[in-house]
Amino acid sequence: MTVAGFALPENASSHTDALFMPVRIGPLELRNRVVMAPMTRNRAGAADVPQPIAAEYYRQRATAGLIVTEASQISPQGKGYPGTPGIYSREQIAGWQRVTDAVHRAGGRIVLQLWHVGRISHPSLQPHGALPVAPSAIKPMGSAKTAVGPQPFVTPRELETAELPGIVESYRRAALNAGEAGFDGVEIHAANGYLLDQFLRDGTNHRTDAYGGSVENRARLLLEVVEVVSKAVGAGRVGVRLSPIGAFNDMKDSDPDALFRHVAEKLGSRGLAYLHVYETDPNGFDWAALKRAFGGCYIANGAYDKARAVAVLSSGRADLVAFGVPFIGNPDLVARLKTGEQLAEADSATFYGGDYRGYTDYPALA
Ligand SMILES: Cc1cc2nc3c(=O)[nH]c(=O)nc-3n(C[C@H](O)[C@H](O)[C@H](O)COP(=O)(O)O)c2cc1C
Repeated sequence: MTVAGFALPENASSHTDALFMPVRIGPLELRNRVVMAPMTRNRAGAADVPQPIAAEYYRQRATAGLIVTEASQISPQGKGYPGTPGIYSREQIAGWQRVTDAVHRAGGRIVLQLWHVGRISHPSLQPHGALPVAPSAIKPMGSAKTAVGPQPFVTPRELETAELPGIVESYRRAALNAGEAGFDGVEIHAANGYLLDQFLRDGTNHRTDAYGGSVENRARLLLEVVEVVSKAVGAGRVGVRLSPIGAFNDMKDSDPDALFRHVAEKLGSRGLAYLHVYETDPNGFDWAALKRAFGGCYIANGAYDKARAVAVLSSGRADLVAFGVPFIGNPDLVARLKTGEQLAEADSATFYGGDYRGYTDYPALA
């Protein structure tokens, strides 16, 4: 059988080996189909520079076929939480270089997730205490996570049309910086209610310019970003992450089927490395249709365990599977999936911020 252009041996589709088959995406040879999902851990240092301990954390997990890093802001304006790493300064590039070196020395592959949070921020996290920006001045329900604890979200400032080329340019520079830091590629974060997702969905995009209204217009900013980033680092090193029916960060859309079919078709014509989809409800959307619309390599994510992962690969409905929380508590997740070993449970109290505890101190099995 053939999956997204690469051949699986005849007998691979029917058993657990499907998870551990090497795969080539774009220029990258991956040693298995187990992806580490992007996870914000809020442990960057001063000036949002990744610390040496981040290199240790990712190195411990380098047996994944591919690591997608925690989201990394492309500019100071793109920041929405304390302690998240950036990819716009010399110091940040140097900090990330330690991470990519460590992962590569361990034989792993790693891409950087590029992030602009849009309205999911707070003046205390913005340059000069400015308002967060968004496609439209619509306040999200809930609270921003600031350095002094939760603070009610504020009404964001609507971006002017003339500001959008500057944001696209920030993505381009960030992608070039990622290349300089030694990453194997980048993943454009267009999921989970952050800026690009805010443009896609009509619950957050009420614009009347060329970036709002129709599905084509709402997809415009994402496609412009994909184009410049692809030109900067090569389309085969660019992935895109979507969460079509995710409600996180107060998101909704009146017709996600039509919107994301269009987005997936357009992305499918760009020669990208992959489409990474957070399937927040396994039965709430036609994920198979989304994969068909894209037509390329599809990474499935969302509460997958070994059985579901093997099933989704064997059916051809996905080409790789990303695991999030299981990778926090199990640095050797790939080995444990292989042997069927019990998985350790991760402590959610140490997910966001703190020190080595709950970060680099989960043991691998002997
Ligand atoms: C601690 C934590 C941080 C996360 N940070 C990000 C992130 O930076 N970018 C992103 O796209 N998703 C993020 N997610 C979502 C995960 O990538 C993943 O979609 C989610 O955990 C579901 O996969 P799982 O059930 O295998 O954990 C985060 C999830 C967790 C638990």
